[in-house]
Amino acid sequence: MEKEKIYDYLKENLKDKRFIHTLGVVSTAKKLAQLNGEDLEKAEMAALLHDVCKNMNKEDMKKLIEKYDIKLTLSEKNTEELWHGILAPIIAKEKFNITDEYILSAIRWHTTGKEDMSVLDKIIYIADMIEPSRNYDGVEELREKVLENLDEGVLLGMNHTIKYLLIKNAMIDENTVKARNYLLKK
Ligand SMILES: [Fe+2]
Ligand SMILES: [Fe+2]
Repeated sequence: MEKEKIYDYLKENLKDKRFIHTLGVVSTAKKLAQLNGEDLEKAEMAALLHDVCKNMNKEDMKKLIEKYDIKLTLSEKNTEELWHGILAPIIAKEKFNITDEYILSAIRWHTTGKEDMSVLDKIIYIADMIEPSRNYDGVEELREKVLENLDEGVLLGMNHTIKYLLIKNAMIDENTVKARNYLLKK
């Protein structure tokens, strides 16, 4: 079964901590899917695969980005931490034959978010930030907000991330700004 193959692959290719994080994203995403009328199977699949490339080495990632001629934003070019999200849909397609664009989009945008996110995009984005093994100042407040209202939770999560990036004096990806503006407009 495809899902078992994916679990085995992740167990082999992710560091232990990352594998545990992935299982946490799966359980959180399924819970949020239930609360928000989203398809549970799609939520599980997207959660499972969102960090599939997280422990790939940087040189291999760079090669794949060049091979597939992927256009990057300035911040994506300069932020290695974002590359695994860009490549995850390619690996999901090639290795596991996942062709559902709805799932692939949630995987692609889990790091930065984007303008006009689908329910599944939002679920994976925020499940990644609040799954049980995450531990940082403000995570409890964020968990509560997400359970109350998905959009408000995602907005709070983006605010948190942008504040963190400002303090680090790091680049803020333009897609995060667009995603946040879109949520504020609604
Ligand atoms: Fe990630
Ligand atoms: Fe993650």
